[in-house]
Amino acid sequence: MRHIKIFDTTLRDGEQSPGVALSVPQKLEIAHGLARMGVDIIEAGFPITSQGDFDCVNRIAREVRGVNICGLARTHKKDIETAARALDVAESWRIHTFTSASDVHLKYMLKKTREEVLEISDEMVRYARTFCDDVEFSAQDVMRADFDYVIQLFNVAIEAGATTINIPDTTGYGTPLEYGRLIARIRDEVVRGRNVAISTHCHDDLGMAVANSLAAVENGATQVECTINGIGERAGNTSLEEIVMALYTRGDYYQAQTKINTKEIYRLSRMVSRHSGMVVQPNKAVVGDNAFAHEAGIHQDGVLKNKETYEIMNAELVGREAGVLVLGKHSGRAAFKKALEDLGYNLANPIADHGLTEESVNVLFARFKDIADRKGAIGSEELRALVETRDHAIPELFRLESIQVLSGTHVVPTATVTLETPQGPKQHASSGDGPVDAAYKAINHLAEVYPSLESYRIEAVTEGGEALGEVSIRARVGEIVYSGNGVSTDIVEASARAWLEVINASLANVGVKKEAITAI
Ligand code: KIV
Ligand code: ZN
Repeated sequence: MRHIKIFDTTLRDGEQSPGVALSVPQKLEIAHGLARMGVDIIEAGFPITSQGDFDCVNRIAREVRGVNICGLARTHKKDIETAARALDVAESWRIHTFTSASDVHLKYMLKKTREEVLEISDEMVRYARTFCDDVEFSAQDVMRADFDYVIQLFNVAIEAGATTINIPDTTGYGTPLEYGRLIARIRDEVVRGRNVAISTHCHDDLGMAVANSLAAVENGATQVECTINGIGERAGNTSLEEIVMALYTRGDYYQAQTKINTKEIYRLSRMVSRHSGMVVQPNKAVVGDNAFAHEAGIHQDGVLKNKETYEIMNAELVGREAGVLVLGKHSGRAAFKKALEDLGYNLANPIADHGLTEESVNVLFARFKDIADRKGAIGSEELRALVETRDHAIPELFRLESIQVLSGTHVVPTATVTLETPQGPKQHASSGDGPVDAAYKAINHLAEVYPSLESYRIEAVTEGGEALGEVSIRARVGEIVYSGNGVSTDIVEASARAWLEVINASLANVGVKKEAITAI
């Protein structure tokens, strides 16, 4: 079996998804989760883009162990130096430098000739090698480039010292057979048995990213670049969970394997979905709500008799277990804590696990009791929502004590909110366009912080009328965007909790100012 390296770029290409902006604690938590899952390389960011990105890559490099940390850099000296400075505290690290291969990129973006790009690539790969022995070279848009030029460009990069060559189908234009053939040409005409890894990096514009990546593996690629839930520019990147499970389930065919602990997949998928605000479609392979649901009578009958009739992998394998655990209002703190541990939360490592500490377990236990009193039994999904909808590392300067709302068809919606504040309990009533708006105005008045709402999403944690409501929002204070989540049996209360998380995050300065560079 060949070992296929999993290069995760959720924090770099994934974060380039429209509307996604991850805060430093969110990125750290994802990076710890990726390391624990067993990815080989984490592309932590693009350090030249902003001081914020530099600091975040630097923190991940310093804190996340047992995995190679990589930073992106254009083929510019300044980018390469900055990436090296951000990364050199890591246990092991890589500089990933990139240019472009297609004529349309050369003419309109780089404004360089093919010869100039060859020369710069040669010089910059050599320069990157002066900082570290592990240098990856990419040329964007290979599938719309002249393949003879692509061969020439990657040859130059290897001669200059690149240890991994990455072949990006930046625009998602390639088809599996065509892309596979190009990888085979690169294997035979460029790598020629030398100790250089071929990497695949595909985008999903035509829905073929995973198929193209697998075609690359069949033709000699030993590294796959991918993101959790397939998030990324436009239609996204190759999805990590689909690649990993395809190689796991069809190891017989691909004769290749990864070192991913597949049981961590679902946890990471939910974490990335919550932090990025990008909902996973129900029919998404491996991690979608319906991925293991059987609806048709014939299917249900078959599965009841023997799961293998309609299942090629089982839910437990990817860390999903169907509500095995139920707690009630009589469950004690020890049972509650044990349930958290059974769900995989590691209280010994707060950064990697939603900031969970003994103290936050006490706060959570009180909330659990409150919800169990109102609702009765609480299952694993609801417990997960309770834990994951709050960033326990953010101090709760303002905490919800109580909320009452008056709303209806012929009344002015009014909310009366009582908060525990640093100066003691305070109460205020406001009116608004609706009960949520009224609650937000009352909270703003009490906290003296006035965020503007950018996005608001509500969904039920489980099915049925008894379900908890989960609210996820993004709001801006000045130039910084903050995210907040709240969960409750009452959707106005869940909305208020999400808003308070935004306010507390803004006071703790845990937000994101997303900057982008516009030229390569
Ligand atoms: O899609 C792409 O070409 C990229 C490169 C920077 C590798 O993301
Ligand atoms: Zn990309």
